[in-house]
Amino acid sequence: MKVLFIGFGNVARRLAEIVSADPSLIDGGLEAVGIFTRSRGSLAGPGLDLARAVDDLKEGGSFAADHRAATTLTPLEASETLDYDVLVELSPLSIEGRGEPALSHIRAALKRGRAVVTANKGPVAFAFGELQALASARNAPFLFESAVMDGAPLFNLARAGLKGCRVQAFSGILNGTTNAILAHLERGGTLAEGIAAAQAAGIAEADPSHDVDGWDGAAKTAALANVLMGADVTPFDVSRQGIGAITATEARKALDEGRRLKLVCRGRRRGSSVETSVAVEAVPCDDPFALVDAYGAIVRIETDRMHPVVIAQEGPDLNDTAYGVLNDLIEIAQGARKGTMP
Ligand SMILES: NC(=O)c1ccc[n+]([C@@H]2O[C@H](COP(=O)([O-])OP(=O)(O)OC[C@H]3O[C@@H](n4cnc5c(N)ncnc54)[C@H](OP(=O)(O)O)[C@@H]3O)[C@@H](O)[C@H]2O)c1
Repeated sequence: MKVLFIGFGNVARRLAEIVSADPSLIDGGLEAVGIFTRSRGSLAGPGLDLARAVDDLKEGGSFAADHRAATTLTPLEASETLDYDVLVELSPLSIEGRGEPALSHIRAALKRGRAVVTANKGPVAFAFGELQALASARNAPFLFESAVMDGAPLFNLARAGLKGCRVQAFSGILNGTTNAILAHLERGGTLAEGIAAAQAAGIAEADPSHDVDGWDGAAKTAALANVLMGADVTPFDVSRQGIGAITATEARKALDEGRRLKLVCRGRRRGSSVETSVAVEAVPCDDPFALVDAYGAIVRIETDRMHPVVIAQEGPDLNDTAYGVLNDLIEIAQGARKGTMP
């Protein structure tokens, strides 16, 4: 499987370490034919050495300008012209850019009938309908298991395990940073301390506003509404409340009343449309949502045929996200062998 990496940061490098350590994980092996970054140089050519690429970028490094495979192609040009089987898109989420430039990279790959795997929720949150239609028309797999819930089999569950069911609603705790900060408030801490603790744990970004203001939750909500319910919404359509105004006093008062404050993402069918929201809710302590501590996540899916199905994840880290991408790659490799599309 010839793979073009666009974005070679934390997730891509962890994936590279995993497949370099055990190449047999992917049927037929994985051959990197392009590795693109924003500011650390880019490589293109057959048989790139993934383990060496990881080493080159360690501790703020970059690809040497005189590397034999150094390229001046842009990531978009690479998506449009290089010879690859799968685009692994792992550039950052851009809310302001409405999923770009990842969206253009993915569109270019799918137009060429190439498979795409991404952990970037932006394209799914902003343009799932278009990308899915393109993928179907070109018979090209488009997989994104790690985009929500860091590799837990949420989309796989919905795709493979709920056949014949119509998803009527979902709810979830999907942002570990805000969940950990709310727990910190319950212990009497301040918002600033909670943010600092999440940053020290390597979970929150240097600029945590996307999490605190609910944008990350809104992007995940839009992604779930689009994929699970066929909605056509973007993060800007999601009614959004962050946790910036919540105080320790409120969090402790809720606890005294047998409840925990949680930032809950929701989607529900209303007639022909899907209503979506992200808001702080006081969840009863005996609800499974109240058990989600620190950086964990949970989703409850309601359908027309089953009682609610709940999937929970305990303390995911980078390995989980990289695993979700790996799982998608394995599925594509297996499909290619059998001549089927996931
Ligand atoms: N980290 C997680 O646990 C996690 C969990 C779930 C989903 N995700 C998603 O997975 C994706 C990758 O996350 P990450 O943690 O690996 O991010 P990261 O460490 O910030 O790495 C991002 C990579 O993308 C490159 N990049 C930035 N802008 C680009 C552009 N315009 N075109 C091409 N490449 C660009 C960066 O290059 P430079 O280094 O030169 O800037 C870097 O190589 C993100 O969309 C994230 O939301 C991550």
